[in-house]
Amino acid sequence: MQKVLILDLGGQCDLLIARRVRECHVFCEIHPAAMPLDKIRAFEPKGIILSGTPGGIGQIDPQIFQLGVPVLGIGLGCQTMIAALGGAVEPCSPIHGRTLTNLSEDAVLFAEMPPMTISWMDIDAQITALPDGFVATASTNNCPIAAFSCPERQLYGTQFRPESPHTEGGMGMLDRFLKSICGCVGDWRMENVVNDAVADIRRRVGDRRVLLALSGGVDSSVAAAVLSRAVGSRLTCIFVDHGMLRMDEGDQVEAYFSRMDVHFVRVNARERFQSALENVTDPTEKRRIIGEEFVKVFEDQAKKLGSIDFLAQGTIYPDILETGPGYADVIRSSREMGRLPGHIDFKELIEPLRLLFKEEVRELGRTMGLPAYLVDRQPFPGPGLAIRMMGNITPEKIRLLQAADHIVTQELEGSHLNRSIGQYFAVLTDTMTMGGYIVALRVVTTEDYLTAKWARLPYELLDKISTRLMTEVPGISRVTLDITNKPPASIEWE
Ligand code: XMP
Repeated sequence: MQKVLILDLGGQCDLLIARRVRECHVFCEIHPAAMPLDKIRAFEPKGIILSGTPGGIGQIDPQIFQLGVPVLGIGLGCQTMIAALGGAVEPCSPIHGRTLTNLSEDAVLFAEMPPMTISWMDIDAQITALPDGFVATASTNNCPIAAFSCPERQLYGTQFRPESPHTEGGMGMLDRFLKSICGCVGDWRMENVVNDAVADIRRRVGDRRVLLALSGGVDSSVAAAVLSRAVGSRLTCIFVDHGMLRMDEGDQVEAYFSRMDVHFVRVNARERFQSALENVTDPTEKRRIIGEEFVKVFEDQAKKLGSIDFLAQGTIYPDILETGPGYADVIRSSREMGRLPGHIDFKELIEPLRLLFKEEVRELGRTMGLPAYLVDRQPFPGPGLAIRMMGNITPEKIRLLQAADHIVTQELEGSHLNRSIGQYFAVLTDTMTMGGYIVALRVVTTEDYLTAKWARLPYELLDKISTRLMTEVPGISRVTLDITNKPPASIEWE
């Protein structure tokens, strides 16, 4: 398989570049810029993208440029390349945002871009002298060397960010680097990803058995589909229903997976979780208890199945990438429920999705024919409704919240706004008024769940939701709207 290597000098853009490269149907991986040379050689990249933003570490082993592999430096990456090859780079006042860029006509990278183009920059250093053999290929008013090339050595750089949606023609530029310069054919497609994953699992597993903790979320559902295609009923999926799922969710998961060619086990552990959580009001405690209880239930069930050789997990690429400050925040979720290896007796771990981004996991699921309600699900926290219910957890509060959440979900889905909205749900406060509970609507738009804005929903829709909640859910006496952004708030209330 043709692969491109993204070397990360620090900053936040490498994830976006990786996704863009894969949108060009070229597989890529992100590694730290300090990756040893022998490892880079063993990776056999068709091309290297060296990327970083201000604040990153501008250092790279110059031998990388002797490998005979095309390199594109972006932002801090292009400055680092120039410094490593004997050119000059000097600090400048930060340039951040849209800039009008004058592109030279004959550069391969810019072949189909207009001579004057809008591009996105995020730099705090200027290139003031190029090494021998390099030519400047773009400039802006305050950045005389905004791009350069050295076609003989297949080295290229841009101070602007082609992966940014604000850069006109940026995707085309990346595509030309990958296809015309690196010689990638662009054959990384989901059908091949499925076939490769299935072949790999079959080769490793042979006629042995695999165990998977299925939550019904996107990742574990898609992992189950891939594994089921590979080993059929030698895959056992354990679905722990802790009783704090959304309305009918447990039944939906069971209905779908019990029809699949897998050994599906649903453990109804509602009462066990409820007694463990009795009178617990602290959110951290709620999370801890649910996590621990989950492992115990899973372990008990696994023991009944006898010795199993493989444990499978729906780990995805952001779970294993240690890049970009704060990123771990987004993904703490799957980890919480996924800390099984230490406890369970198994020989090997299988993670069929470990190199895929979330959107790619969804696409893989679609390719495999999984229904939209499984594949397009919004994130749902492992501890479930327990952390959307302030105060203690009671069967009555769970019932109320499930009913309220169901109405919010139905109305948002019916409005077709749901595609543009990142997450929507109801929160049950612990405050009573006029004999019933106050419910809050939490509806946010977000790209990455690190930041989020409260969604501006049409008044008519808000009115309909409020009316339905008040008339259809006895026990709810008031409906409020959460208009807090993240930061400073979080998306969840607890
Ligand atoms: P916050 O509330 O931190 O949420 O802004 C960001 C994203 O993470 C999800 N989230 C969780 N997921 N276990 C999970 O599995 C948790 O304890 C948890 N807390 C937050 C949240 O739904 C949102 O998508």
